[in-house]
Amino acid sequence: MLEEVVDLFRPLECGVVVDATYGGGGHAAALLDGLGEGICVLGIDRDPEAIERAPGRSRLDLAVGNFGEIDEILRMREISEVAGVLFDLGVSGHQLDTARRGFSYRREGPLDMRMGPDAADSAEEVVNRTPAPQLARIIRNLGEERFAHRVARAIAAARPITDTEHLAAVVKKAIPAATRRSGGHPARRTFQAVRMAVNDELAALSSGLDRGIRVLRPGGRCVAIAYHSLEDRLVKHRFRRGEGRSSEPVLPVAPPVELVVLTPRPMRPDPEEVARNPRARSARLRAAEKAA
Ligand SMILES: C[S@@+](CC[C@H](N)C(=O)[O-])C[C@H]1O[C@@H](n2cnc3c(N)ncnc32)[C@H](O)[C@@H]1O
Repeated sequence: MLEEVVDLFRPLECGVVVDATYGGGGHAAALLDGLGEGICVLGIDRDPEAIERAPGRSRLDLAVGNFGEIDEILRMREISEVAGVLFDLGVSGHQLDTARRGFSYRREGPLDMRMGPDAADSAEEVVNRTPAPQLARIIRNLGEERFAHRVARAIAAARPITDTEHLAAVVKKAIPAATRRSGGHPARRTFQAVRMAVNDELAALSSGLDRGIRVLRPGGRCVAIAYHSLEDRLVKHRFRRGEGRSSEPVLPVAPPVELVVLTPRPMRPDPEEVARNPRARSARLRAAEKAA
């Protein structure tokens, strides 16, 4: 959703737009090409490989770091407020395609899945050391896997598991044959869950949204693209809270209005984009503007 993202940031005439998930740099390049000369982009990624691969460009600055600490990253650069923050969540094509990173159930590699050196444990540690009931909760909650308990029990019985192919085979065998034939690769949901646990992705998002919104200048914009329903819900609720609408039934004093939501419903990619890039299928884009 490159065009949609650029259009949402277009009213900004000057200042820093933070691309908090630089990845392959597609959004950062589109922002630099599509916005005026007054806009500089700071690309952040917790994966040093993403930043090392980035081409040098004028008006583009880069930083390795976790967007959960976006305010700290900005403070180190003596930036006190920004015009925009973009989150395009999840893994990059490069991470998925690089077998040694261990993200893909389709490529044989070590069970790693750490997006960057700041992740505490690798997937191998999570898969082999987490007690089965806790692993089942991770697979159920983060992977939305209906057969989470079966999968977790099968993983516990097959330990030690040290590579992606072995994990994918164990998960596939644990899923009932009738289900295996529908809904994509049977290991997709478990791999997603383990990756999200390894990288503590929901905690990073929650902190990144809070801190990113805090450093926005009045009129500044925050855009988030989520590929997972839990992430999308987190974005939706954070924006709604910023609007002064809360899920809490009665508050004694109305909370201050911090945001204006620009997307009453999430924006979805059009069918042509999904045909070009099937991963975009689950994308939901939400945007909000910092209140004056
Ligand atoms: C979907 S890709 C972004 C693709 C990018 N928008 C592009 O156009 O190429 C997500 C990227 O965000 C990074 N990432 C995920 N969580 C992060 C976090 N908490 N802090 C910083 N980077 C993160 C990943 O390492 C990955 O490179």
